[in-house]
Amino acid sequence: MERTFSLALLFSFISASIFLKSAIAADTIASKQSLNDTETLISANEVFELGFFSPGNSKNKYLGMWYKRTPGKVVWVANRDNPITNTYGELVVSENGNFVLLNQSKSTIWSSNISSVAKSPVFLQLLDSGNLVLRDDTSLNYLWQSFDYPCDTLLPDMKISWDKDSGRERYLTSWTAPDDPSSGDSTYKIEHKELPQLVLFLGSAKRYRTGAWDGVRFTGLTAIPNSVIRPFAESDGHEWSYWFEQNKDEFFATVITVTQSSSVQRLVLKDEGSEWNVLYSIPNQPCNNYGNCGANGICRLSKIPTCECLQGFVPKSDKEWKAFTWTSGCVRRTLLECRGGDRFLHLLGVKLPDLLEFLVNKSMNLEECKAKCLSNYSCTACANSDIRNGGSGCVLWFGDFIDLREFIQEDNEQSIYIKLASSELGKDFFHLKSTLR
Ligand SMILES: *[C@@H]1O[C@H](CO)[C@@H](O)[C@H](O)[C@H]1NC(C)=O
Ligand SMILES: *[C@@H]1O[C@H](CO)[C@@H](O)[C@H](O)[C@H]1NC(C)=O
Ligand SMILES: *[C@@H]1O[C@H](CO)[C@@H](O)[C@H](O)[C@H]1NC(C)=O
Ligand SMILES: *[C@@H]1O[C@H](CO)[C@@H](O)[C@H](O)[C@H]1NC(C)=O
Ligand SMILES: *[C@@H]1O[C@H](CO)[C@@H](O)[C@H](O)[C@H]1NC(C)=O
Repeated sequence: MERTFSLALLFSFISASIFLKSAIAADTIASKQSLNDTETLISANEVFELGFFSPGNSKNKYLGMWYKRTPGKVVWVANRDNPITNTYGELVVSENGNFVLLNQSKSTIWSSNISSVAKSPVFLQLLDSGNLVLRDDTSLNYLWQSFDYPCDTLLPDMKISWDKDSGRERYLTSWTAPDDPSSGDSTYKIEHKELPQLVLFLGSAKRYRTGAWDGVRFTGLTAIPNSVIRPFAESDGHEWSYWFEQNKDEFFATVITVTQSSSVQRLVLKDEGSEWNVLYSIPNQPCNNYGNCGANGICRLSKIPTCECLQGFVPKSDKEWKAFTWTSGCVRRTLLECRGGDRFLHLLGVKLPDLLEFLVNKSMNLEECKAKCLSNYSCTACANSDIRNGGSGCVLWFGDFIDLREFIQEDNEQSIYIKLASSELGKDFFHLKSTLR
């Protein structure tokens, strides 16, 4: 009883320490105005709040943003890698049009770093979307916006992106620890490929990937109920972007966040002021672990053991495979013949293998794609790059298949054609959802 009480007290204290701040009843501060570390900005419809905070036991001060009525989760931090280490912090919109964070002795600890000098008064405004923007009166474009600098959380309409010309990337980076928002080891980004996929990295190692975008969704991300969000991945010819729209009827808010334990979580707030719930957390099962079944293995949750060699392939090391060590993977039982002796094994409902050595040609159809693959000895598989309108475009794989998994869901239309020596196609030694072509 006493314990419950003290816990309750603790929680009310935590929220009180944020709520007791004197909110300046405004969403905007203008040039030469400032916000001290007990004041906060609140967006017009009171969705988001911006102010200084110190996470957990940390004595450092950070400028952060949270949903106003659910202040427990900070969704964005300005100076995550530049904390204010003394007791006092201040946000100022400077005369040259930047917004800067100052410590007690008025030293600049962090700056929005815009180089162009503003021609008219500049305003810093917190929008109801959770975008913190610097703007002036002369231009429709923002001089700076927090949506361009994601931290660990993707808000609706905020983008993860990769620009192939400039190399500029926007991606999520975990906090280092619960009381330290500095950039941690886990990142969630668009991979630099013609067919984008989202990849969760721990350091430089891939931990999970969504599978390539097939025009409708990421081929390995079937878990999201469409009632929660609508995902988008688009290219303007230079930049690939991923973002989502949320369904406002079902939830008050939903975000994607990358945790310190290197998982990607979809969080939802049922109602304004309720607690965050985890809708899913990935990787959550073996088939989501990158390359779980080794080269040319296929992961199937419905089977025990979950890893099997693809048809036409055998374990590289029988001994390891029998001990359920999959990392050594599988090799072809019969080498490809070329000279007209090869055929395709059609696998339906799979997360396409990782794009390591590959070619994409968006103007080829499936027949041209298969013919191209058959005519090149090094080509090992092919598929449509876009499944809309009956399928179009061509992806060719060269080399081993990494991170291939099968789905149980019947609605996954993505299929892949694996090249095998024709003598392998008669041997139907396991029951895969497959047809021979
Ligand atoms: C911060 O601003 C509030 C409201 O303007 C004021 O009451 C308070 O004294 C200020 N705090 C400090 C430390 O300057
Ligand atoms: C403010 O920051 C500057 C530069 O980092 C530092 O030299 C100074 O000691 C800090 N002031 C206080 C009061 O901590
Ligand atoms: C702003 O620019 C300075 C000097 O180039 C750099 O040291 C600092 O890290 C930059 N700050 C941010 C937030 O990018
Ligand atoms: C893509 O395929 C078409 C049709 O076969 C061909 O004309 C074109 O040259 C190919 N593009 C590239 C970049 O290979
Ligand atoms: C097969 O395709 C690869 C990758 O495009 C290419 O480098 C190679 O020259 C091709 N081989 C033949 C025989 O066309």
